[in-house]
Amino acid sequence: MASGHDKVETNVGLLIVLVVVVLSIGGLVEIVPLFFQRSTTEAVAGMKPYSALALEGRDIYVREGCYVCHSQMIRPFRAETERYGHYSVAGEFVYDRPFQWGSKRTGPDLARVGGRYSDDWHRAHLINPRDVVPESIMPGYPWLERNPLDTTLIQRKMRTLRRLGHPYTDEEIAQAPKELEGKNEMDAMIAYLQGLGTAIKARR
Ligand code: HEC
Repeated sequence: MASGHDKVETNVGLLIVLVVVVLSIGGLVEIVPLFFQRSTTEAVAGMKPYSALALEGRDIYVREGCYVCHSQMIRPFRAETERYGHYSVAGEFVYDRPFQWGSKRTGPDLARVGGRYSDDWHRAHLINPRDVVPESIMPGYPWLERNPLDTTLIQRKMRTLRRLGHPYTDEEIAQAPKELEGKNEMDAMIAYLQGLGTAIKARR
C-alpha cells in the first residue's frame, strides 16, 4: 500500500521541493531573528566606530591581504579563550564593513591583539617579523613605513559609512584629513591593530 511517505521517497522531484521548503523554513527561523536582535545588531557598550587613522589602517590591512593568514574571530572554546582572550561577540563587528573574520589561521587570530604589544613592537614586526620573532614565516611589509597616507578619500569614506549607520559627527569628518596629516601607512596600520578587540577588555 502506497502511503504518503512512499510517494515522497519515490518521487525525486517532490522530494526536492519538500526538502527546499523545510530547509527554507528552518533557515528563516534561525537567520531572520539575527537581523533584529539587539545583541547581534548593536555595538557592544562603549564601542566607537574606527577613528580616521584606524579606518585607513583597516583598508591597508585589506589591501595587503592580512586576512589570508589571520582570522579575527575567537570561538567560544577553552583552547581559544585561554590563548586569545574573551570569545568574539557579534556586537564587536557592527563597524566592520566588510568584517575580517577570515577562515585561515596561518598566523594567530588577531581579534584581540590590540594593546598586547607596543607600537614599536608592531613597527619592527611589520618591517621584518624575524627581527622580533626569529622563527616567524610572516612576510615583511617595509613599504608601509615609506608610503605616506592618501588623505584624499577619508571624508568620503566616513560619509558613506555614516549613511550605513556609523555614528560619525560632522566635526570628526571635518577633522579627519588633519588627523592623517604627516602620517604614513605604518602609523595607520598600527592604530588599527592597537584598537582590535579592546571594546571587551578582559583577556579571559
Ligand atoms: C603568510 C601568512 C601571513 C601573512 C600574509 C600575514 N601574517 Fe601576520 N603572522 C603570521 C604568522 C605565522 C605569525 C606568527 C609569528 C609572528 O609573530 O611573526 C604572525 C603574527 C602576526 C602578529 C602577532 C600576533 C600575536 O598575537 O602574536 C601580528 C600583529 C600580525 N601577524 C599582523 C599582520 C598584518 C597586519 C599583516 C598584513 C600586513 C599580516 N600579519 C600578514 C603570518 C602572516
